[in-house]
Parts: sequence; C-alpha cells; structure tokens
Amino acid sequence: MPNWLKNAVFYEIYPQSFYDSNGDGIGDINGITEKLSYIKDLGFNALWLNPCYLSPFMDAGYDVQDYETVAPRYGTNADLYRLFDSAHKMGMHVILDLVPGHTSDKHPWFEESKKPQRNKYSDFYIWSDSAWSRPEGYSWVAGMADRDGCYMLNFFNSQPALNYGFNHVTQPSWQMHYTDERVAGTFDAILDVMRFWLDRGCDGFRVDMADSLVKNDDEKTATASLWRKARKMLDEQYPEAMLVSEWCNAPRAINMAGFHCDFILNHYGKLTYYAFRHKDENGQNKSYFCKTAHVSAHNMLRQYLDELNETCGKGYISLISGNHDTERISYMLDESELALAYTMLLTLPGVPFFYYGDEIAMRYIPQQSKEGGFQRTGSRTPMQWDADEKNLGFSSADRARLYLDVDRGDDAPCVRQQLEKPDSLINTLRKLIKLRQTYPQLQADGKPEILVCNDDGVLCYKRDDIAVAFNPTDRQAVLPMRTDRQIFVTGNATNDGDNTLLAPQTAVIFALN
Ligand code: GLC
Ligand code: CA
Repeated sequence: MPNWLKNAVFYEIYPQSFYDSNGDGIGDINGITEKLSYIKDLGFNALWLNPCYLSPFMDAGYDVQDYETVAPRYGTNADLYRLFDSAHKMGMHVILDLVPGHTSDKHPWFEESKKPQRNKYSDFYIWSDSAWSRPEGYSWVAGMADRDGCYMLNFFNSQPALNYGFNHVTQPSWQMHYTDERVAGTFDAILDVMRFWLDRGCDGFRVDMADSLVKNDDEKTATASLWRKARKMLDEQYPEAMLVSEWCNAPRAINMAGFHCDFILNHYGKLTYYAFRHKDENGQNKSYFCKTAHVSAHNMLRQYLDELNETCGKGYISLISGNHDTERISYMLDESELALAYTMLLTLPGVPFFYYGDEIAMRYIPQQSKEGGFQRTGSRTPMQWDADEKNLGFSSADRARLYLDVDRGDDAPCVRQQLEKPDSLINTLRKLIKLRQTYPQLQADGKPEILVCNDDGVLCYKRDDIAVAFNPTDRQAVLPMRTDRQIFVTGNATNDGDNTLLAPQTAVIFALN
C-alpha cells in the first residue's frame, strides 16, 4: 500500500477547462503546471487528470486513439513529464486516467481489427460471427466494417469494447473464455500502457469503468483476476503507485480485485451522483446537508459504513465532492451546506477527492452538449480564477474561441475574490485540509465510531480522540455532550451545561478530553 495515500487529498482536473497557458481557448498541461502552487496552497497533495491522450474527442477523451501520446491540444508528452516533475518537487503526486474497457474506433488496434484479413489485432475487440444478426445482450454495431461480424460497444458508438473474453461462454462460435490465449494480449497491452506512464513519473491511475472488462461476468470474479495481475505488477515493480477504480463496489474492487481505493458513486439511470446525494421515492434530489430537504445521517452513511466494514485495512473508500460526470455539488447545496459537506469529506476515513471549482462552489450551467458531454457539459466549464480578468482569467482568447464559455453571471464565484474573504468557502476548505494534515487521527485509516445519530439530524462521530458533530437543519439542536476544546467550527457551537447548543447549519470538530 503506497504510504502517501494515508494523507492524500486529491484534486481532479478536467484539462480542457483548467487553465489555458497559450491563449488558444482550451486548457493545457502547461496551464496545470503553472497553477500547481495554487493547488498546493489549498493543501491538496495529489492530482487526478482526466484523459489527456490523443483522441477524436467523441467522449471528451475517454475515446482513446493513442494511449501513449498527449493530445496536441494539451501540449506534448514532454510537458506532461515536466508536470510530473514539478509536482514531485512540491511533494505532490499525479495520477492519470486509464481507460482499459474500450478504445476509440479510430485507434490503430481497431483499424486493424476491422480488417477481414486475420491479423495480430483481430481478437483485440469483440466481434460476433455475422454482420447480419446482433447477438442478444450488450450493444453492437453492424455494417461499419468489411469484416463480417458486429462489434461490441462498451459505451458510446465510438467506443468499441476491448476483448478480455467471457467468463461464461454461451456462444462458442465467437465468444472466447477469458483464459483463452487469444485474448491474453489485451490485458498485457494495458499493463504496457501502465508501465509506459509509470516509468515516466506518473504515480498511478484512476481506472475508468474498471468492472467492465470480462463479459458475462456477473460476479466479476474474472475481471477481478485481471486486476490482481495489475496489482501484483505494482507491488513488485512500482510499490508507491496507486490504483483507484470507478467500480463503485469497494468490497469487490478492493478485496477481490486488489484496488487501493474505490469511489462511492450512486448511479440513477444514466446519471452519476456522489455519495452525499440521494433521490427519494418521488425522484426528488435530497441531501443530509440541506437545511430543509432532509435525509437522515443513517441513510446517507449506510453504504459507506457497510463498505468500510468490509474493506477496512485492505484499501480505502474515496468520497468525492463530485466529478466530471455529476452535476456540480453547488447545484444542490448552498455555501453553508457545502461547508458542512466538506467538513465530513475531510474527516471520514478514506481518500477524499475534490473536483476542480468545487472549492469556490462553481455552478452547474446547463447548456448544449460538447464532445459527448450531454447533461455533464454543465459541470465542465472553465475554472474561474479572477472576476476582473478577461474570461475570468481562464484564457486570453476571444470569447468565441473558448472550449466552453465561462460562467457569465455577474456573481460568478472566482478564486481571487474568494481568497480575499476570510470566511469564504475556499478559505474554509483550506483550513479543513490543513487540519486533516495536522491530525493523523483524521486521515485515511480506521473506522469512525458513531456517538450520536439522531432523528433530529444531529450526527457525531469520533476518530480516536477527536470528534466531529453536525447540525444541518435550520433549527438549533442539542448535542448531548460538551465541546470544550473546539478545533474548528462553521456555524456556532456553544457549551450549555452538559450539552452543546448547535446553531442551524453547524459543524464542529473538537478534541475529546
Ligand atoms: C466513465 C467516465 C465517463 C466516460 C465513461 C466512458 O464513466 O467517467 O466520463 O464517458 O466512463 O469511458
Ligand atoms: Ca491552450
């Protein structure tokens, strides 16, 4: 287990939209390098970059055309190596996005696989044995290649599934078992990609759709067996490298497949949500942190605590503020509610991830789809650096050339203006990260002990000798213990006899004796 994870707080960057260093309207790698000290000043010590590889961008880069080349619009491989190096010098780690389930249909492997003549890549993708009938289950494309067969998709139509075989072979004429030597080369190719970047300074990977590799694998045992190979390679050759999965089932991802971390994400239909957001029976969005739309703490934490019980000591659960697939967390929570949510994110065990812009409550801006984003596009708008600068400081390009327009609202939240206000969200977050880094009790390991979990919304948990209490409601509430040694408060917590009165929307971190 990489030791640095104990204390890691990640910042996710969507490279298109972070900082444009050369004025062409789109964010780039050198822009990220220029802003490293901003990220570090907030206390973040690790970065996850969304895919930055050569791609036709039918799915914002999750359709990879070349796993080992940085897309020219973001710069060069040398720029990325320099980013690794600068980050390391500042004590930070950088992980890349690994997309093993599918490639772009423009990937040279697929161009070869499409050919009717047998070649090295014929079995790299999943082909049925006739262009005339699409097999049942999964999604297929027919009639787009001279090869007689349909090819299986893993996501959008531009993303053919790589072939890791089937766990249960039901149609032997075209399905291969996952142990068949004809498919062994596929995972080896992905291991090569991992080594390529690790050898050049990358510190690990966020693994896209990690559970999607082997087909007809409902229990995911075959898919897990592949990832255990990857973990073995890391343990032997790159013991400080980390893997975090988009699996959303920590017991499987960690205990079975050997991932160091797994994200908690809820999927409702085609939308992805972070852990702190729920839909009620009527499909209404709710969150524990909302003053009014109340979800019990018990409901919010159930999945997290269950998964933590099963995985504790073997790997970490990653709670997130949101990501490039979710609506922005500010769409649901206002600034005081966000302060409570971030207090929890930074004081529960696991490895927390923040999505760029969530530190200033950047808004979700519904708009026309860009590069396969659809409703996700509203969460992918450019970072807002300074209200007084052109394009809020994101880019010097003309407005019409921007990758996506910046938030044009008069009150668009911006970094510089928020940093100047002592009680702003960004300064609260900075304080919280600092606290977590000062107190090892608040870091990734261990389990919280729930001290209070009341129907009126009051929640209090303890981590060794530090406790954290919340009152998210719009009414004063009573915490049945004193909080004499307060380390951090948002809202107000006043001792009163044997109790503490928690003002509406309060979170307090305090030392126990
Ligand atoms: C993951 C990514 C998402 C992408 C999809 C297909 O869910 O987070 O952005 O579209 O996989 O690669
Ligand atoms: Ca640029």
